[in-house]
Amino acid sequence: MPDKVQRVKGVNDILPAEARQWQALETVIKTVMDRFAYGEIRPPIFEKTELFARGVGEDTDIVSKEMYSFTDMSNTSMTLRPELTAGVVRSYIQNNLQQISPVQKLWYEGPMFRQERPQKGRYRQFWQFGAEAIGSPNPEQDVEMIALFYAVLKELGIEGSVTLKINSVGDTESRETYRTALQDYLRPHLNELSETSQRRFQTNPLRILDSKAPNDKELVKDAPKIRECLNESSTSHYDQVLVMLNEMDIPFVQDDLLVRGLDYYTHTIFEFTSDALGAQDAICGGGRYNDLVKELGGQDVPAIGWASGIERLLLVVEALHPAEPKTDLDLFLIIMGDDLRVKAPGLINQWRSAGLRCDSDALRRSMKAQMREANRQGARYVAILGEDEFTQGVVQLKNFESGEQTAVSFDKVVSTINPQAGD
Ligand code: HAM
Repeated sequence: MPDKVQRVKGVNDILPAEARQWQALETVIKTVMDRFAYGEIRPPIFEKTELFARGVGEDTDIVSKEMYSFTDMSNTSMTLRPELTAGVVRSYIQNNLQQISPVQKLWYEGPMFRQERPQKGRYRQFWQFGAEAIGSPNPEQDVEMIALFYAVLKELGIEGSVTLKINSVGDTESRETYRTALQDYLRPHLNELSETSQRRFQTNPLRILDSKAPNDKELVKDAPKIRECLNESSTSHYDQVLVMLNEMDIPFVQDDLLVRGLDYYTHTIFEFTSDALGAQDAICGGGRYNDLVKELGGQDVPAIGWASGIERLLLVVEALHPAEPKTDLDLFLIIMGDDLRVKAPGLINQWRSAGLRCDSDALRRSMKAQMREANRQGARYVAILGEDEFTQGVVQLKNFESGEQTAVSFDKVVSTINPQAGD
């Protein structure tokens, strides 16, 4: 026997039963995005590697070790998108979207690719949905962004078991002040830091706050807080965000150690976490990125956004509200006798065209086996078609729940099952 080809490590097959939960979530996402007046954007799945190197940052984990990159036939390095903010900004600039309106509010959904160590809630192909608002520098835009994800959580009925953590990394000037303060604090302990943090001491000391190494964690506990280093305008922006969140009754905790793993952030940053998950507890992350549009060759336009991991969000939904197996089918046609096999497809088609969800058996099995299949599919009704019925133009329509059975003419089947629908 030939070997079976196995799935690539860290990627998932989403099978029909699970796809149903995905579709339900997608309906919620679309409804909420529409209410908030965000338009959908579908950028390509791969981009030039240069976009992510410049957009996400050379020194980030994503760019330095997690990208799926390849060289195409024209010798250009391409990368399967590890995230979509850089792609959306590239598209915004290239399509001159600022000419359509000064604020562009966009959302997306799709697969992302990162070569991380797979574990529960962390995959190499995973799905994100996200939103980006490009154009407004004001705190009300930050708060709308957060409220947008909160609205999705509320629709899913899980907002109570999710924590919003928020912090500000301020503008460039504030970050410079903080960088120096943090380096001054850490310098005497440089040798005690983990190897990664020692490297980051020069390249990106803020990421040391995020280190998982126990000794690093202990050291950063008493480190100066970035909030204390924000200049006046950065403090004012952040304070207004917090006031507006309170106004909107969106609960949050300020997390002085929150930093994000991508380089483009300025001012407000946030994460939503859930304790229904294990180590990978972030279901959404985002923040302001006021310099990215300019850095990628566009105008000096501020922006903010977030992205949420669909697999993780569904793990939380499933933990809190386990999905009930759904009765899906309206009608299963039981065909008695192979001569009727020629006639049955036309009948089913007629019912399907009228909007019924119907199925029948294509294996020419016994009546008993067909009944079992109808049951397995959770059919509300079965229609039994034998020679006599066919001659009279009827089926024996049986309500699976009540057990009631009556002869119903072909053209009355739809209105019997769905009284509001016409045949
Ligand atoms: P991120 O924090 O890298 O941010 O990813 C956002 C979310 O994607 C995470 O909170 C998590 O739910 C999910 N996620 C990330 N990596 C994985 C993985 N390997 N497996 C499963 N889920 C994962 C961004 O991607 C930014 N582009 C967010 C953003 C948009 N910032 C501004 N605008």
